[in-house]
Amino acid sequence: MKELMYEGKAKKVFKAENENEVYIYYKDDATAFNGVKRSKISNKGILNNEITEILFIKLGKLGVKNHFIKRIDDRTQLCQKVDIIPLEFIVRNYIAGSMAKRLQIEEGTKPSNTIFEICLKDDELGDPLINDHHAVALNICSYEELHHMYKMANKVNEILSETFIKEGIILVDFKIEFGKNNQGEILLADEISPDTCRLWDSETLEKLDKDRFRRDLGSIEEAYIEILKRIK
Ligand code: TMP
Repeated sequence: MKELMYEGKAKKVFKAENENEVYIYYKDDATAFNGVKRSKISNKGILNNEITEILFIKLGKLGVKNHFIKRIDDRTQLCQKVDIIPLEFIVRNYIAGSMAKRLQIEEGTKPSNTIFEICLKDDELGDPLINDHHAVALNICSYEELHHMYKMANKVNEILSETFIKEGIILVDFKIEFGKNNQGEILLADEISPDTCRLWDSETLEKLDKDRFRRDLGSIEEAYIEILKRIK
């Protein structure tokens, strides 16, 4: 039995034989609204494990350093061990979700710029939106590190937007996380999947992501399967 180090809402992290590595196990559990809504999505763990693998390998080849090492089985991947920086970086190409609601802007509106947000990873506080100065004041990271992570987030956006649009999918927005390895190097970490992106079919604008769960739209597993099929 592997030793459990940490259990999150969608994944478990286990110790690996090498102390600089971890096994990440993808569960079927789905939560929304900060854990208020809970269910399971059949095979979500298998689908998100493979989708994340494909995207992290692609990003790595194109120069975005990330924690992914290799897939172990249908729900498990071996990754570099990192200390997660407690920030969620959100990148928005179209306005949707919390931004549409907070500022009363119609979903799907295309802004003239790319929008970057950071949220503090803190479930008790409900992952509040903060700014760079807050992150530095909270001793989470330096301004230089923030600058580096925004640059990486921008590159992730460029690569993923192009990857998805070729398959007829609009990358509306997404959330990524970073961690520091034992060398102090900042790596892209966590996952990139329909749980953490908004993905719309470019012809029909059909939602192919976790909004199907958040908004009770049905056919959730089918949407995740469709994403995997197109990027594979
Ligand atoms: P938002 O519009 O709800 O702020 O979400 C922006 C993006 O971040 C969207 O693609 C979904 C993703 N996201 C997560 O991955 N985890 C979360 O806890 C939340 C709230 C959003």
